Amino acid sequence: MAILDTTGAWQAIDAHHAVPLTSLFEQDEGRVGRLCRDLAGIHFDLSKTHLDDGLVSAFCDLAEQAGYGAARDALFAGAVVNPSEDRSATHTAERGQGSPADVDLASQRRARMRSLLDAIEGGAFGDIESVLHIGIGGSALGPDLVIDALGRDSDRIEVRVLSNIDGEAFDEAVSGLDPATTLVVAVSKTFSTIETLTNLEAAIEWLVEGGVDDAYGQLIAVTAAPDKAIRFGIDQTRVLPFGEGVGGRYSMWSSVGLSIALALGWSAFEEMLEGAAIVDRHVRSAKGADNVALLAAFADTYYAQVRRAETRAVFAYDERLRLLPNYLQQLEMESNGKSATRDGGKLDRPSAPITWGGTGTDAQHAVFQLLHQGTHIVPVEFVAVVENEDSLDPRHHRMLLLNCIGQAAALMKGRDSDDAARFYAGDRPSMTLLLERLDARTLGALIAFYEHRTFANAVLIGINPFDQFGVELGKEIALSLDDPESRDGLDASTRALLDKAGL
Ligand code: F6P
Repeated sequence: MAILDTTGAWQAIDAHHAVPLTSLFEQDEGRVGRLCRDLAGIHFDLSKTHLDDGLVSAFCDLAEQAGYGAARDALFAGAVVNPSEDRSATHTAERGQGSPADVDLASQRRARMRSLLDAIEGGAFGDIESVLHIGIGGSALGPDLVIDALGRDSDRIEVRVLSNIDGEAFDEAVSGLDPATTLVVAVSKTFSTIETLTNLEAAIEWLVEGGVDDAYGQLIAVTAAPDKAIRFGIDQTRVLPFGEGVGGRYSMWSSVGLSIALALGWSAFEEMLEGAAIVDRHVRSAKGADNVALLAAFADTYYAQVRRAETRAVFAYDERLRLLPNYLQQLEMESNGKSATRDGGKLDRPSAPITWGGTGTDAQHAVFQLLHQGTHIVPVEFVAVVENEDSLDPRHHRMLLLNCIGQAAALMKGRDSDDAARFYAGDRPSMTLLLERLDARTLGALIAFYEHRTFANAVLIGINPFDQFGVELGKEIALSLDDPESRDGLDASTRALLDKAGL
């Protein structure tokens, strides 16, 4: 798909006269109604962004000129939307939203996943009490987020997620686990990621040393390269494949979600898919700014491109969503942190901003000083859950939500003062996402919303969100450094560091 000429739309966006947020509210009583959406148990409030009718209309023109509708249709049709790797992106098919062929293949693979799950739960692997999920990046972050969010009170199988090659991480992950009752689930799309394979070898040793006779019998591989897993020694009956078109950071909906299903149960896994499918159906059919993912991307693009915000911050006002910022860092930065356009040209504008964040209220006492009074422009996103499920007096949850909503109001309103140290400029934008409750369906919807928003952001600036060549060079150099022979041409700093580290 060639890059389309979007100059006209950008001119209108750049020429847009920005009005302070408080004035936008004063001028327009219907603002909240027009800039809020409700979908799949999530209330999206974009009214505290600088979007107004003029800007939304200019961005709708940009979306049209950038070919958003065609790109979205291509995504759902299973067409090539990742041209640098000549691939489709079929994660929506995992949720039943894609071409009939892709949906069919995904459901066949899901049936295999289900049978394996039934076998594990039925005792075919012995009395399994815990799972060591080994994977990194997209092969870990999604399952980790979902299990941490929803598996807290579960009395089902305990899942530990191991990603880092650091042995300290391994020690921590297996601490207290019994090798005899632990299933190792190795997840790697390529089945060639050094961290995952090295940790898998360590896990096999740990099983053997723990007295397990048939260590390989306690391994499951989830991969888009089943041949490599079989060559590694894992029996093909315990190799769950997923499609090449399912990108790592979009993969938790596929058999990569096995650990999610083990931790939460099959019906929760299906609920999660259904939540995501609600958002898919919405994105597929909504026109222009009715599409909440596209509308959110308008605000993102406005701040990154026009206000030149270099970062965006996401704060989960719910301890159960504490891994959401980590998850979004990969989703957004690995997808849209690029300097090349979709057709291989050079991007002549900023790529995606840096995603960062934390949990509220903790972050208020650490980083909010800068958000309120620093010189950086940081669009903030608040994510909170209305229903309270903790065991304490409801005033805890009430204070949590009051803080979340109050911070957004304070960022916007600011406070005048003659004393510069006490002056708050205000007019600082935020979005607030309120989940009715935190369950598998709503969490699935939330994550799918972020996926579609990331895709929309990519289309608006003309990049391909589905490749990640930027991760290769560092890996290659790290590996090459292992060979002392290859160090001759190295720079002095790198050589000195290797010496200092005793390598
Ligand atoms: O290094 C980045 C990356 O390729 C991610 O895109 C991916 O999610 C992760 O590594 C793990 O890759 P794999 O699933 O192939 O082990």
